[in-house]
Amino acid sequence: MLAYPRIIAHRGGGALAPENTLAGMHIAQRMGCRGVEFDVALTADGVPILMHDETLERTTSGTGFVAKTTAAEIAKLDAGGKHHYAFAAEPARAEGSTLGVPTFQAALQTCTELGLWMNIEIKPTPGTEVETGHVVASIAAAHLASHPDAAIVCSSFSSAALQQTMHIAPTIPRALLIESIPAHWQSALDLCGAAALHTNAKNLDFSQLTAVCNSKISVACYTVNHRATADKLFAAGVRAIFTDRLDLWQPGEM
Ligand code: G3P
Ligand code: MG
Repeated sequence: MLAYPRIIAHRGGGALAPENTLAGMHIAQRMGCRGVEFDVALTADGVPILMHDETLERTTSGTGFVAKTTAAEIAKLDAGGKHHYAFAAEPARAEGSTLGVPTFQAALQTCTELGLWMNIEIKPTPGTEVETGHVVASIAAAHLASHPDAAIVCSSFSSAALQQTMHIAPTIPRALLIESIPAHWQSALDLCGAAALHTNAKNLDFSQLTAVCNSKISVACYTVNHRATADKLFAAGVRAIFTDRLDLWQPGEM
């Protein structure tokens, strides 16, 4: 079974910070959280950065498609102000946090320095599954070679992306993301050599969930923002939950 922290900060720092930012990771660590999840996509020039959406509007000061914007253009954007003015670029810099869109490399470095377990969600633009899996796995493997204590699990909704990571960096554990667990879950996991399954807490059949949890597969559920739901999932054998609400748990419970 893979090692998981019980509570994983969703998109960096959950709802407490701008999503997929280094500031979020700093806040998660300060809250006592031991692990974070973040999304990785490629820019137009193939640089992996932290971004959930295919477009820039919702979370940054930019506009347009991530896959059509270069890393140099994205580096000029503010990734904090849309969340709250307190996170807009200037005060954030005074705090010592970086509120630009982080590169994947910067996220690896920050999480390692903070001692945070990482779930790298590979989020390819349609058509770039193999390339994104390849780039993420290569950089993660190089990081692990120089930081052997870094704790990494790669996940994706794309089996093709995970298959690439399996070829490039076979020792990095993989988790398949699935909106709801299919009857053929074992063969879906086998296809990409995944040792874990990450699934939506809203779509669960508890008898099936218990069967998966009783196998050698680690199960983690997203996005759980109520303690009662988390407790029910843990009782069923779920190893970890992704949450936006780190404030619901005390440091020792995470
Ligand atoms: O990796 C778990 C969760 O982050 C998947 O959903 O859309 O928030 O990336 P999403
Ligand atoms: Mg995600």
